[in-house]
Amino acid sequence: MTATRQPAAWLESARRGQTTAADLRAAAERCRACDLWRRGTQTVFGEGPARPRVVCVGEQPGDREDRAGRPFVGPAGRLLDEALERVGIARDGVWVTNAVKHFKWKERGKRRIHEKPSPNEVRACRPWLLAEIAALQPDLVVCLGATAAQSLLGPRFRVTKDRGRVVGAPGLPPIVATVHPSSLLRAPDAATRRRERARFEADLRGVASLLQKAPRRAARRA
Ligand code: URA
Repeated sequence: MTATRQPAAWLESARRGQTTAADLRAAAERCRACDLWRRGTQTVFGEGPARPRVVCVGEQPGDREDRAGRPFVGPAGRLLDEALERVGIARDGVWVTNAVKHFKWKERGKRRIHEKPSPNEVRACRPWLLAEIAALQPDLVVCLGATAAQSLLGPRFRVTKDRGRVVGAPGLPPIVATVHPSSLLRAPDAATRRRERARFEADLRGVASLLQKAPRRAARRA
């Protein structure tokens, strides 16, 4: 496969079962489908086990993730790990990734401040996310926040209204959307943080019980 293939061609190849997540990671390093590669340190591709039961999709790498080249290694990732553990979802069965694979930021003093990716940037990165899911074939996808949910379920999807429910989308495994863990970190006071964390964990508890009921996909590719 050539390095210059476009993301959409990688998606086709993943759908035909001819591409692994490792192939995608290597190809996405050179992605120029939008301008975010100019500001980010590197492409931050997803990571996890070769055969995950769940793929968790965030928005985009943060400052720490951009430097480390790994998703969810900062405070939001810690919160996610803790919540998964509390609801009994084995972390070693979870692949974590993002809807957008470069860090978008603006400078404020010495700090790099997160900026929300534009619809065009989300669209440009979508083939990578779809290809990742096609290559991994998880039993379930969990969207963390509106950017991930709208990338997979369309711009009209509302996490506030439909969080915690199983939603279907053509060609994708069942999807459950919930809030982004970083929204819990931004809660204005301790009581709100406790309440929102409990709701987040309730959504993930629903995911845990779906996983218990769902048979593992038998026909995964080696
Ligand atoms: N927030 C995200 O959406 N993704 C990460 O990888 C880290 C923080």
